[in-house]
Amino acid sequence: MHSSATTGFGPYYAAADPKPLHPILESARPWLTGKGVALDLGAGTGKASVFLADLGYRVVAVEPDPDGLSRLRARCGNDPRITIHDVRFEDYAPPRCQAAVSILSLFFLERPLLDPFLLRLLEAIEPGGVFVGQLLGPNDSWVADGCAAHTRAEVEALFASFDLRVWDEVEKDAVTVLGDPKHWHVHHIVATKRQPSSVDMTPPLR
Ligand SMILES: C[S@@+](CC[C@H](N)C(=O)[O-])C[C@H]1O[C@@H](n2cnc3c(N)ncnc32)[C@H](O)[C@@H]1O
Repeated sequence: MHSSATTGFGPYYAAADPKPLHPILESARPWLTGKGVALDLGAGTGKASVFLADLGYRVVAVEPDPDGLSRLRARCGNDPRITIHDVRFEDYAPPRCQAAVSILSLFFLERPLLDPFLLRLLEAIEPGGVFVGQLLGPNDSWVADGCAAHTRAEVEALFASFDLRVWDEVEKDAVTVLGDPKHWHVHHIVATKRQPSSVDMTPPLR
């Protein structure tokens, strides 16, 4: 799989769709308020989009893979709570949002394309809003194929204006959803954006 590919996820969708929602959504549940707009980035077949809509969000589901889009439209196309956008992250200007959810999707971009998108995305999250998703660590076997990797220090820097509520860095040999052996090195992240620092009321020195 090429890192910038936005086609070819068909076998993944077929294998992953019958499985339960990714557990990070349950971990994020205390910070998913259901108020305002939630982005589902790399929405795939739209399971997380429906989960977010059921919490009360107006959902924007972003998905460029033709197979993903047809599955997404079949599941969510008639759902007035969910708007579908056929666009790649690198061409997307995220709207202001209260939640940005990206289940196993952002790291398919190469770093030079992912970095500016991540900055736009984290900027678009309102204070009090939440980011939920994964980034790869440098030892993940997909990094050799061009997927983006982040060190711990880079994750800390990226989320400097957030509180990291969940940060599980998992490294293990296991298999993909398709059963292929793989070395995983993943940062599972739930982070809430801090309020801007309060105005300094200290009287000026005379
Ligand atoms: C592993 S699938 C995960 C799908 C879904 N989030 C899920 O949990 O089942 C990765 C998704 O990211 C999407 N994706 C990959 N590169 C992308 C890009 N550059 N822009 C937008 N979406 C992308 C793929 O089309 C695919 O649907």
